[in-house]
Amino acid sequence: MSGARIRFRLNGEEVALEVHPLRRLLDCVRDDLGRTGTKEGCGEGECGACTVLVDGVAVNSCIAPVGQVVGCDVTTIEGTGHGAIQEAFVVEGGAQCGICTPGLILMTRAWLEECERRGEEPSEARARKALAGNLCRCTGYGKVLASALAAHANSRSGRNP
Ligand code: FES
Ligand code: FES
Repeated sequence: MSGARIRFRLNGEEVALEVHPLRRLLDCVRDDLGRTGTKEGCGEGECGACTVLVDGVAVNSCIAPVGQVVGCDVTTIEGTGHGAIQEAFVVEGGAQCGICTPGLILMTRAWLEECERRGEEPSEARARKALAGNLCRCTGYGKVLASALAAHANSRSGRNP
């Protein structure tokens, strides 16, 4: 594979890689850039474990070629802006083994930001729909949904480090 100079921002920091544009974003983030908080589950775009934000949009990084994020802002679990969501997952028991958790937190962030843009009130039904693509073998989803709604309450009270 021939390489190319790929530049984007990772958690607010400019990064540059000499890699093939079709290399998976997941591999670039984890292996090339050492941000191992992003997890791999299925590797086929089905489970959501590898979710990152690209310009604020939730993306399965296992099926996203890095060439698609040139010039974009990529946010992983190591980034800032989702501290209140992380706290909610800890307090509400939305994380157990943790493999799905970074993806769920970033998907929750994308969902809450979309609710705000649309002027929609977050509800359990909406959370269930928004998080349906993020699979979890441990929690049974009840605590995940409670975490997502608690995150909304946290951000409303101004707690969003
Ligand atoms: S590891 Fe990417 S969707 Fe499952
Ligand atoms: S906490 Fe284990 S898969 Fe979700």
